Amino acid sequence: MQVWNDYQQQHQQRFLDELMDLLRIPSVSANSAHQADTARCAESVQQALLSAGCDLAEVCPTAGHPIVYAEKIIDPALPTVLTYGHYDVQPPDPLDLWTTGPFDPQIRDGKIYARGACDDKGQMFMHVKALELMHKTNTLPCNLKFIIEGEEEVGSTNLGSFLEANKDRLKADIVLVSDTSMISMEHPSIETGLRGLAYMEVEVTGPNRDLHSGVYGGAVANPITILCQMIASLHDENNHITVKGFYDKVLELNGAEREALNKAPFDLDEYKNELGVKADWGEKGYTALERTGVRPTLELNGIWGGYIGEGAKTVLPSKAYAKISMRLVPHQSSHEIAQLFTAHFQSLAPDSVQVKVTEHHGGEPVVTPTDSIAYQAAEKAIEQTFGKKPIPTRGGGSIPIIALFEKVLGLKTVLMGFGLDNDNIHSPNEKYDVANFFKGIETIPHFHQNFAALSKA
Ligand code: BES
Ligand code: MN
Ligand code: MN
Repeated sequence: MQVWNDYQQQHQQRFLDELMDLLRIPSVSANSAHQADTARCAESVQQALLSAGCDLAEVCPTAGHPIVYAEKIIDPALPTVLTYGHYDVQPPDPLDLWTTGPFDPQIRDGKIYARGACDDKGQMFMHVKALELMHKTNTLPCNLKFIIEGEEEVGSTNLGSFLEANKDRLKADIVLVSDTSMISMEHPSIETGLRGLAYMEVEVTGPNRDLHSGVYGGAVANPITILCQMIASLHDENNHITVKGFYDKVLELNGAEREALNKAPFDLDEYKNELGVKADWGEKGYTALERTGVRPTLELNGIWGGYIGEGAKTVLPSKAYAKISMRLVPHQSSHEIAQLFTAHFQSLAPDSVQVKVTEHHGGEPVVTPTDSIAYQAAEKAIEQTFGKKPIPTRGGGSIPIIALFEKVLGLKTVLMGFGLDNDNIHSPNEKYDVANFFKGIETIPHFHQNFAALSKA
């Protein structure tokens, strides 16, 4: 619509400036030293939603970081879209690998560099500006509700109970989320699934204290060696996961489904080049798109123990640790997999060590429908602004709360994300293309318009 384009054009510099202000707030949810910043960020989001046109915007305290809830109800008879996003960000470390400070946003080559630029402040803020645009041009076609949380990166611990406690208030027709990626600007796509997550921490204890590695080494098990052996056995020679029962509930895709999935444009050589690896890796018999989209995986996220300071210290450590996460696909349950892992890992331990396994936050996998009016609304919106019909893809990441929107509120989700896989989310030099930011603001009003029109039909 011309009025939308005109409005965006007139205000685009301010949109960008406002995003940069939001990116300056180090709202790192994992780090308690940033608690005040996180609270300040919630207030900024609240103010932004109010000035964009919401009738109501509240900062709702939780046992952890606050949730921002807002709404703009124009007519109860019209459909309601519930937009979800998060204002918290991942820790920025390692700091020395950033070209410019993670909370000192800079634009280089048409890209905004900052922690949260893509995940998820940049993408969440597109929805705030899309509301402003529709509100100021008197073209809002439906009711809007917003949940912008501050604990997504630490497992959305308090959002589930917020949904339970506010079922009535959160009544809506669909959940719309921009917190995923698309293939490229030339190949727009919509993720139609997210993997679940089971996250474990293991502790292996050998002797009851650190020992001199010469005096005792050779006669007492070294917990680091044992841990490494246990970890190495978690994949077999085909890179299949060996945890007993792990694949029991995994559905094999049929030939047609696999073919459709592998039709997405993907260049393995480019992929390897861009990542600086000579060869790809993974479960035998599956393509890279399948390995990251529809197959479950097990990754080591961290491993430590013993002496890692300067110089050499000859020590046989008492303890060794690792953080291990598993990405799950439909029908696998996070807690069930955590239990299978625990039993399996315990069974691997020789008598020379003791093993403690603990379960961290997790989340369930989701598949979003492609035969719904909400999907059609998104598909058409992208076609209207990109000039191309989006390809449905399966994303490898996780957004644990999405399964709960369905379970608690009975709501389906559309994942209309505008990030790119190489936006360096969770990595140094996270970025978001200015063009994607503006394209998102342009596309979102079309979604609302299409969804309202299709709901009426
Ligand atoms: N936005 C991401 C998830 C994502 C990224 C989905 C790219 C699809 C494509 C989200 O903020 C995230 O990082 N989630 C975590 C899980 C959470 C429990 C820490 C993840 O996927 O590791
Ligand atoms: Mn995110
Ligand atoms: Mn994230």
